[in-house]
Amino acid sequence: MLPKLILHNSISLDSSITGFEANLAVHYGILSSYRPSAMLVGSKTAKIGIELFYEKVPAEEETDFSKPEIQPGDPRAYWLIADSRGILEGLLHIYRRSEYCKDVIVLVSKRTPASYINYLKERNYDFIRAGEDHVDYRQALGTANERYGFKLVVSDSGGMLNSILLEQGLAEEISLVVYPVVVGKQGTNLFRNLEKSGVQLELLRTEALEGNYVHLLYRVLKEYGTP
Ligand SMILES: NC(=O)c1ccc[n+]([C@@H]2O[C@H](COP(=O)([O-])OP(=O)(O)OC[C@H]3O[C@@H](n4cnc5c(N)ncnc54)[C@H](OP(=O)(O)O)[C@@H]3O)[C@@H](O)[C@H]2O)c1
Repeated sequence: MLPKLILHNSISLDSSITGFEANLAVHYGILSSYRPSAMLVGSKTAKIGIELFYEKVPAEEETDFSKPEIQPGDPRAYWLIADSRGILEGLLHIYRRSEYCKDVIVLVSKRTPASYINYLKERNYDFIRAGEDHVDYRQALGTANERYGFKLVVSDSGGMLNSILLEQGLAEEISLVVYPVVVGKQGTNLFRNLEKSGVQLELLRTEALEGNYVHLLYRVLKEYGTP
């Protein structure tokens, strides 16, 4: 069985996910209100997040090599980080240390370098291997459900991963925080790589938020969308 998957993004009025300053309290406040078992993050988004917040990557300490202790009923989400190329080698402890993250589980593929798999093993990170080249998300999410009982996953990713998840029919809902800003041609479309067109949606929720933001929630109607 697959967990329910919601794509969650902050966007400009012209559907860009970049080129404006996202309000992280609003973005993650809404994301966590879904109470997901896990958050799905692409490797590029994870790396850019570190570059934004850290001038220098803090050195690893002994505690970074062990899984964090998790108390029963801990409401935080696991972070499922897709990284088949191992670009986060030497960086994952930053996310493991985050107060918002229960622990990191890495999604890898058969092509993932052995040195990265060793890095994960030495530090006791769980990983799911799915797919030949890049990660096969259908298989990886199925394993996450079987192995950890994940029922709801919210994706916090960019236009590439969003497109893959929608293209493959894995996204059940799309959650958007719309900002009162127009980015123009500097922007990056929310589904910049989507081949399908005419994906039909049903509006489930609209809410005007403080700060002139609007939250929209849509259900993806699976019978629509042409390849
Ligand atoms: N406004 C928002 O709400 C929001 C939210 C998140 C991110 N962002 C922005 O979005 C930008 C990054 O977006 P992005 O989509 O380029 O990066 P991303 O979200 O990191 O997605 C890239 C992921 O897609 C995977 N991938 C690439 N090609 C694939 C393929 N053919 N098959 C399967 N998986 C594939 C990569 O996996 P591999 O590991 O296999 O390469 C990588 O993990 C950043 O600027 C970030 O700040 C904005």
